[in-house]
Amino acid sequence: MTQLFHPTPEPRPPLVFGKLRLASRYLLSPLAGFTNLPFRRIVREIGGVGLATTDLVNARGLIYGSEKTTELIATCPEDRPLSVQIFGADPEMMADAARLLAARGVGSIDINMGCPVNKVTKTGAGASLMCRNDDAVRLVEAVARAVPDLPVTVKMRLGWDDRQLTAPHFARAFEEVGVAAVMIHGRTRQQGFSGTVNLDGIRQVVEAVRSIPVIGNGDVRSIPDAARMFAETGCHGIGIGRGALANPWIFQQLVQWEATGAYDPPGNFDDRMRLLRRQLAFVVELRGPDRAVPFFRKMAHWYLKFMRMTARQRHEFQQAMTLDEVESVLTRIEEIGPHDGDRLATPTEMHIPVPSGPIEHW
Ligand SMILES: Cc1cc2nc3c(=O)[nH]c(=O)nc-3n(C[C@H](O)[C@H](O)[C@H](O)COP(=O)(O)O)c2cc1C
Repeated sequence: MTQLFHPTPEPRPPLVFGKLRLASRYLLSPLAGFTNLPFRRIVREIGGVGLATTDLVNARGLIYGSEKTTELIATCPEDRPLSVQIFGADPEMMADAARLLAARGVGSIDINMGCPVNKVTKTGAGASLMCRNDDAVRLVEAVARAVPDLPVTVKMRLGWDDRQLTAPHFARAFEEVGVAAVMIHGRTRQQGFSGTVNLDGIRQVVEAVRSIPVIGNGDVRSIPDAARMFAETGCHGIGIGRGALANPWIFQQLVQWEATGAYDPPGNFDDRMRLLRRQLAFVVELRGPDRAVPFFRKMAHWYLKFMRMTARQRHEFQQAMTLDEVESVLTRIEEIGPHDGDRLATPTEMHIPVPSGPIEHW
């Protein structure tokens, strides 16, 4: 075990969202295109995840039962507790989507108020709701009323831009209309993914609410990052997105750290190869053998990067068309090992590119 030099968090009561008691205070934050059922199963098998959330799901698509949304909300008994994140601008439609999800037995419903991309904001949904006070509160209230037995949460940014840091105001207003928790990504919409997370902004949200938990989110990749998030914001839990992609062991490490002050290192080359194969098997279970390979390419790219394979080997994987071809590339990769030859090392470089350039063009 690695000894820890950062203090463990102060003991706190377990996180409770409405009637839902979470096993840990570390949540998988949604990453569209990545936090699908196969990946959620992987992080849950490793352990330490208090709650996992689906990618954002269009409320309209849910109501009309589109194939895409059906796959996005696919789940299994091991995938519990599960929150489904919905987005939309129409309160009635969002309420109907929430009822439909409640009938399917989901554990919690999350409303997206943070998505910065134009495709979503131009419809009045995602982060743009943070510019329209009454609409935002009405929408959240409609969803909370539609599913009184389920926790409804909101994930938002700090505001639209630096001049409008509205998250503290909204968090309190949402609490008043029945929201069970909020997750705050400590950046504005204008910021996209640039700069650093504004921990003081998250603290202001923590101070604004009466009693609901506030989950701090953004740039937590390690135990020291988490220690800082707790210490500087006073948040009750932490949401982790990209850090989980780079290190699916992070939730387990956080729980160990909280309990003992020490934690195991993340997996090495062989551990990651095992996870990759297991996740691929889960993809085959979800989509069948013919549709599994293209679906898995994006994720495999990150596995192989964190396994320190060369660009050439990653490219070879991306060329494989069938499961048999994938298996023969994997066998070769296993023989070759990481480019620096150290199979026991754990990756230190965890950079994951995100959209950049002027946010108006996203
Ligand atoms: C590729 C990608 C997809 C994302 N998809 C979603 C999403 O569907 N819903 C959402 O609320 N946030 C989404 N986010 C934002 C993350 O949940 C999170 O708030 C952000 O990445 C900061 O946290 P992190 O540094 O732990 O990743 C996405 C982020 C990335 C990079």
